[in-house]
Amino acid sequence: MVQSLRHCIESQQFDREQLKGIFRLADKMRQTPSRKMRSRILAAIFYEPSTRTRLSFETAALRLGGHVVGTENAGVFSSAIKGETLEDSIKVISSYCDIIIIRHNEDDAAERAAQVSSVPVVSAGCGKGQHPTQALLDIYTIEKRRGSIDGLHIALVGDLLNGRTAHSLAYLLGKFDDIRITFVAPPTLQIPPGIREYLTRHNVQYEEIESLQNVIGTVDAVYTTRVQRERMNSPSGPAFARLEAQYRIDAEMASRMKDGAFIMHPLPRNSELTTDVDSLPQAAYFEQAANGLYVRMALLHTIFS
Ligand code: NCD
Repeated sequence: MVQSLRHCIESQQFDREQLKGIFRLADKMRQTPSRKMRSRILAAIFYEPSTRTRLSFETAALRLGGHVVGTENAGVFSSAIKGETLEDSIKVISSYCDIIIIRHNEDDAAERAAQVSSVPVVSAGCGKGQHPTQALLDIYTIEKRRGSIDGLHIALVGDLLNGRTAHSLAYLLGKFDDIRITFVAPPTLQIPPGIREYLTRHNVQYEEIESLQNVIGTVDAVYTTRVQRERMNSPSGPAFARLEAQYRIDAEMASRMKDGAFIMHPLPRNSELTTDVDSLPQAAYFEQAANGLYVRMALLHTIFS
């Protein structure tokens, strides 16, 4: 029996019992989807682009017997373009539907939406803040690969300052025991101090390093991420290319990993992860994307239980 859940805003809100409940439900959904959303309506309101998150949430609702409404590019296709506040839009949308899935360019958007919504609100990734349902599917994928999360040594690599998936994953790992995280990034793109403080409070061992080479052979998993170009103030092509090259994972890098170690990526990827890795046993990223459907079905089922 999974504990009740209303909104899903940040990774810190989950406890281990809830996570276990959602993951065992996700296993079940793979075999036999429930009909928990029969005659219920999910509104997907996306102010930023999305492939996996939006389509897997929409598919999850349909597979659970529900219906879907919504808008992509909501900053332009909704009344936001006419100057309507997020709060007003959410008040109205929540009077039409049974749940709102929101992706937004501002870090606190899901929280603000939850404050005025009459129905549950789920963050589908907000600004440079968090992307909690990505972390759920990331942890679920690690559990599937390893059998457990406790005792994991993982390297989080890339744009850790602006990447909301890395933030949510780090917070969620704080729920487990004997975790070691190596943050691999240039000093200017390292993990924010608030997350480091949280990890210290939760007895997670962590270190910050610049070179992936130093750790690739010792970790259980590498979680690599895209440089978040759209979130940087002064984009410069050559600087991005250098950064991607510095942390590039290709088949040769993969071959240096220890037995059973694997490579994760929230996707979409750019040149930081090359396609020659895709057919190797280390590649776990398409598994992550596929697992996202079942984890999101389990989350929706839990919210409507
Ligand atoms: C991520 C996101 O939107 O934060 N994508 C996703 O949902 N899998 C990662 C990214 O855009 O880099």
